[in-house]
Amino acid sequence: MININQEKCIGCEECVKDCFPKDLVMKDEKAQATNITCIKCGHCIAICPVNAVSMTDYDMADVKEYDAKTFNIPSETLLNFIKFRRAVRRFKDKPIEKEKIEHIIEAGRFTPTGSNRQPVSYIVVQNDIPKLTGLALESLNQLGKNVVFKLYASRWMKMYEEFLANPELPTSLFFKAAAIVLVVSDSPIDGGLAASSMELMTHAEGLGMFYSGFFVRAAMKNPKIKEFLGIEDTKEVIACLVMGYPDVSYQRTTPRKKAEISWR
Ligand SMILES: Cc1cc2nc3c(=O)[nH]c(=O)nc-3n(C[C@H](O)[C@H](O)[C@H](O)COP(=O)(O)O)c2cc1C
Repeated sequence: MININQEKCIGCEECVKDCFPKDLVMKDEKAQATNITCIKCGHCIAICPVNAVSMTDYDMADVKEYDAKTFNIPSETLLNFIKFRRAVRRFKDKPIEKEKIEHIIEAGRFTPTGSNRQPVSYIVVQNDIPKLTGLALESLNQLGKNVVFKLYASRWMKMYEEFLANPELPTSLFFKAAAIVLVVSDSPIDGGLAASSMELMTHAEGLGMFYSGFFVRAAMKNPKIKEFLGIEDTKEVIACLVMGYPDVSYQRTTPRKKAEISWR
């Protein structure tokens, strides 16, 4: 529920103008919340020039005052950071600090979601990587028998064969990853956007990662994997971030196709 401190409110109307679901109204020259159509996006909190707005649904300690020195990134630096990011699959034998994983998840938590539903959750797998590898490769081996997956079929079946022959060795599913962070949601767009922010944060933390589409495919509608991970029927693993300290360094960016843009 939104609370607008009526003594602090200066009646500037900024929150009312910025309220996308039109939950705020002006009354007696003060802003007031009806708390009917509110989607709890917090724009009213962010915009108020006198910090008169709070919300009972959240921990207000999350809110940070704008600071130009620490909140801005030069656009060229951001673009270079995006260009220099690589899928990292070679990892050191080094665990990832819990605080770094929490920081990465924080980047997901603050990524926008449709109607501000925030329907994204996270599963961190560290100790259970061997068990998850077995379950995923078993699933991919089964999928490999299906003609639809002919591009990867033989590769998946070989990966399973190699795993069964020597379950202790790193596989080309998760390589030598120290942690796997699964992004779970009922919304592919919300989960995907969260994963993208998390990927950037992983690199900002000095770690490396790649997305495992193989694992996402293995887990999709797979009751054994979903039960093992405690994922509800209505949700799926949207993204699988396989991460660790990089055992590889890149010297430059890579080229890409030209953007196909239609200006109208
Ligand atoms: C949706 C998605 C699924 C991917 N799945 C896998 C995967 O299963 N295994 C893997 O090794 N890399 C996977 N990758 C990594 C891509 O191969 C890699 O991002 C791409 O070749 C471009 O290289 P770059 O990330 O270094 O720019 C995936 C990437 C994306 C975006």
